[in-house]
Amino acid sequence: MEAPGCWGLLLALGLLRGAAATAATEAPTAHVLSRVLFCQPDRPSLGLADTFDGDQLFSFDFPGARWEPRLPDFQPWLGAQESKEQIRNDSRLCQQLLAVLTNVTTGKLPEARGTPMANVFTAQPLELGKPNTLICQVGNLFPASVTVSWQRLGEPVSQSVNTTRYYPTEDLGFLLYSYLEFTPQEGDVYTCTITRPRDRFSTMAYWVPQNPIPSELLENALCGLAIALGIFFMVTGIVLLLKSRRPSPTE
Ligand SMILES: *[C@@H]1O[C@H](CO)[C@@H](O)[C@H](O)[C@H]1NC(C)=O
Ligand SMILES: *[C@@H]1O[C@H](CO)[C@@H](O)[C@H](O)[C@H]1NC(C)=O
Ligand SMILES: *[C@@H]1O[C@H](CO)[C@@H](O)[C@H](O)[C@H]1NC(C)=O
Repeated sequence: MEAPGCWGLLLALGLLRGAAATAATEAPTAHVLSRVLFCQPDRPSLGLADTFDGDQLFSFDFPGARWEPRLPDFQPWLGAQESKEQIRNDSRLCQQLLAVLTNVTTGKLPEARGTPMANVFTAQPLELGKPNTLICQVGNLFPASVTVSWQRLGEPVSQSVNTTRYYPTEDLGFLLYSYLEFTPQEGDVYTCTITRPRDRFSTMAYWVPQNPIPSELLENALCGLAIALGIFFMVTGIVLLLKSRRPSPTE
């Protein structure tokens, strides 16, 4: 009788179609393209950025009065961005609204402030003595006005540090990244320090080398494991093949 196999197949097909349907209905609604313009009393007093699903595409460099692509690949679309005159008009409107709203709400509504949260990790898997990049991701920024600095064993590090502009996030906050090029050494302690104007405390995130890859040793171990697994499956395959060919003793 073929029927149970057939039903099983139909059920499996039904489940697959269900999964495909959910995937098809959810996918198109998931993307968000956003443009955020902000103005504030602290520095930077103006900011403007386009993001796609939280990843920055373009940002406007106000002091230099020009659009900047986050990645060189986005350069061709710069011409389609809002004109400088339009941005100037929008910024003026933002500052007028800010002045009016500040006047109306001061003393009546509490000031909204988020405590920065920082996370430090390496761009590449950690290997002592091999050049790498430390990334400090700073989230929950509101308002978008902080200074990021790095310390190694308590001493300031300023060379080979790049800090991005503010990335607007979906919850109407901001985040930014700071990159530090470094060569990890045994006993390192790196600190990413975030300070806000008019605050008496800083947020700090520490990084120490943890579980570095003992480079060649690990590679050899993984390679050995892969070969062992390969041999194991080959032997199992041969055994199963021989078993299936041999007539079973009960018949
Ligand atoms: C900017 O504002 C000025 C004066 O209000 C107006 O004349 C001009 O058309 C505006 N430009 C754009 C691109 O909206
Ligand atoms: C702020 O309020 C004061 C008095 O209420 C008023 O004189 C001033 O023009 C207001 N400023 C703005 C920018 O609305
Ligand atoms: C920082 O920026 C400079 C110049 O744009 C670049 O050469 C360097 O690789 C960057 N460093 C990091 C850590 O991203």
